[in-house]
Amino acid sequence: MTTVFSGIQPSGKLTIGNYLGALRNFVRLQEEAECLFCIVDLHAITVQQNPVELRQNTRELAALYLACGISQKSATLFVQSHVSAHAELGWLLQCIAHYGELGRMTQFKDKSAQKEVVTAGLFTYPALMAADILLYQTDLVPVGEDQKQHLELTRDLAIRFNNRFGETFTVPEPYIPKIGGKIMSLEDPLKKMSKSDESAGAYLSMLDEPDVLRKKVARAVTDSGRDVRFDEENKPAVSNLMTIYALCANVTMAEVEKRYEGQGYGPFKKDLAEVVVGVLEPIQQRYRDILASSELDDILREGAAKAEQMAAPTLKNVKDKLGFIVPA
Ligand code: TYM
Repeated sequence: MTTVFSGIQPSGKLTIGNYLGALRNFVRLQEEAECLFCIVDLHAITVQQNPVELRQNTRELAALYLACGISQKSATLFVQSHVSAHAELGWLLQCIAHYGELGRMTQFKDKSAQKEVVTAGLFTYPALMAADILLYQTDLVPVGEDQKQHLELTRDLAIRFNNRFGETFTVPEPYIPKIGGKIMSLEDPLKKMSKSDESAGAYLSMLDEPDVLRKKVARAVTDSGRDVRFDEENKPAVSNLMTIYALCANVTMAEVEKRYEGQGYGPFKKDLAEVVVGVLEPIQQRYRDILASSELDDILREGAAKAEQMAAPTLKNVKDKLGFIVPA
């Protein structure tokens, strides 16, 4: 059976980009594969976190995973720091990764640019991400396009380790959706939609109230002309909005074009807001119910126990291959 692993950082509210690029595909994959989904709190602390907020964000992200349809029966949902094998293999892979290749990561360059303080953890982050994936002999990693380079590094580290020490890791494949792999900002369609954007109008948060979602869609920038036509080069803003529409309404791009032929942007944006609300409102309702219930802690405890068991043989094998002795 195919093994799937993916993770999301508990660093504030998720955007519709996280949902369409990643989470939504997690829900689909859990029906057909052995899936592990992780709340990667060890990754979150590569930038400074307020402990009270981190605790809250971790529980909220767990609730959001479940509200989107991740089920404890079909998948293993857990918190990264609950399974110490992640930190342990993360260190071992830091000693396999090269300084130069970590320095070439564009996410590191972006996240460290113009920062007064850059932690060593932010630099070695991709080795920890590789550990997350390789611990479970993962075949497939569903992510958005921005994680592609990290996945390539993960593959390189797996291949390097296997070549040096003998077959140890499965070399994973990325699973990046062709449509929705990179949802763009509503204010600047050349920039990725990101929850850390200083302008809240640039992103649709999964937890924005319906009226806030409607306002943000109404204010989203469009391109010159009035045709609702998919053309990423000449109409990046409208193409991005059409992508969100097509994915939320489960229709093809051709169908979106046909529906709004000759109508201009106004009616399209109005319907887009309703299509987005139609997807997010039920998730928000379930999210509130789950957060208020006590099931969350039980699910995370069971998930961690299962993940720990699954990770143990790989970690043991890696230590053995490296030449560590077993305590007598
Ligand atoms: P993170 O927490 O930044 O994002 C979670 C997932 O959402 C995707 N994503 C997007 N997809 C489409 N359009 C967007 N605008 C958009 N913004 C974000 C991301 O690609 C990601 O799939 N390093 C990872 C977390 C991680 C991980 C892992 C992922 C740690 N270990 C192991 C996979 C496997 C990150 O920071 O994602």
